[in-house]
Amino acid sequence: MVINRKIQTLDEFTIQQMRDFPQATGELSGLLRDIGLAAKRVHVEVNKAGLVDILGDAGTMNVQGEEVKKLDVFANNQFMGVLRHGISCAGIGSEELDDVVIFDDEISNQSKYVCLFDPLDGSSNIDVNVSIGTIFSIYRRVSEKGKPARKEDFLQPGNKQVAAGYVIYGSSTMLVYATRRGVNGFTLDQAIGEFTLSHPDIKCPEKGKIYSVNHGNFFQYDEKVREYITVCQKKDKTNGGPYTQRYIGSMVADVHRNLIKGGIFMYPGTTDKPKGKLRLMYECNPFAFIVEKAGGKATNGQIRILDVEPTDVHQRTPLFIGSRLMMDELESITMVP
Ligand code: AHG
Ligand code: MN
Ligand code: MN
Repeated sequence: MVINRKIQTLDEFTIQQMRDFPQATGELSGLLRDIGLAAKRVHVEVNKAGLVDILGDAGTMNVQGEEVKKLDVFANNQFMGVLRHGISCAGIGSEELDDVVIFDDEISNQSKYVCLFDPLDGSSNIDVNVSIGTIFSIYRRVSEKGKPARKEDFLQPGNKQVAAGYVIYGSSTMLVYATRRGVNGFTLDQAIGEFTLSHPDIKCPEKGKIYSVNHGNFFQYDEKVREYITVCQKKDKTNGGPYTQRYIGSMVADVHRNLIKGGIFMYPGTTDKPKGKLRLMYECNPFAFIVEKAGGKATNGQIRILDVEPTDVHQRTPLFIGSRLMMDELESITMVP
C-alpha cells in the first residue's frame, strides 16, 4: 500500500510552523487542536441533524434577544467544554453566553490565550440544509499569567488578534485559520477524521464579480450604500462586470466564497438597526483579520474594523469586507463627505 505523505494534518502543520519559532510554547497549536476537535464533534451533529431531535428551537432567547436553535446550544457547549478542559485557554466569550467565562483553575490560569467565538453562525439555515459555520478569535491575554483572566483580556481591538478562523459545515467541512503568517485551509477527511491541508496560503483575489448583501433591506440603507449597490447592479463588461449577487444568509459561507472567488460582502446599518446585525467580537473581527491577511480589506464604513476599540463583547457593527479593489471602489463612493 502506498501511503500518501503529501497529506499534512492540521496538527502537523501547526507544529511545523511552531518549529520556525524556537520561543513558541506550543500553546497556540494546542488551542487550534482543541478547536479542531470541537469542530469535528459539531460536524458529526450537523450531519445527523435531520435524523435526530436536534433541529429546531431550544425554546429560549440568547442574550441578544434572538431565538436560540438547539444546535447553537450544542455547538456552544462543545467549544466551551473542549477549551475549558484543554490547557491553552484561560477563558472564553461566546455569542450565546451573557458574559465571558473565566475558567479559573490551576492549569487555565497559566494559559496565555483567551478565545471568543460564534459557535453556530447562520443558524436560521440549520433547518433547511444550508451551509453553516463556527467563527473564532484568539487573543493573548493582557492580565498577569498565573491569575484568572480578566474582562480586559477579551476587550481588545481586532488588530491584537493572534489568530482567527472559521469552520464551514458545507458540502465538505473545512477549517480555515489565519495568523500573522498567512491564511490556510484544511478539509476534513472523514475517512481518517483529520483536517488536512487543502488550501495552502489563501489569497483573496484583488477583485471579483460577486457582491453579497441583503437586498430586502435596500431602502433602509443610507444613500451612499444604495448608490454603491446600484453601481454593482449597473456593471457591465465595459467596467469589470456584470456582477452577480449572492447572499446565503450564513456569513461564514458568504465570506468564505468571496475569499476564494473574489467579491464583497456587506452588512450595513439600517434605519431600524443603525449598527447592523453582526457582532464585532464574534464575527467581524475574526473575518477582518482573515481577509486582511489574505490581502483584502474590512471596514465599518468609516474605519478599519480591526482598529475599532471594543467596549462590550456583544457590540454590533456595520461591516464591509472583501477584495481590495472592490473595497476601494466602495470607499470612493461611500466615504466621500
Ligand atoms: P447567527 O446565526 O450567528 O445569528 O448569524 C447570522 C448572521 C450572519 O451569518 C448572516 O450573514 C446574517 O446573520 C444574515 O442576516 P439577515 O437575514 O438579516 O440578512
Ligand atoms: Mn453569526
Ligand atoms: Mn451564532
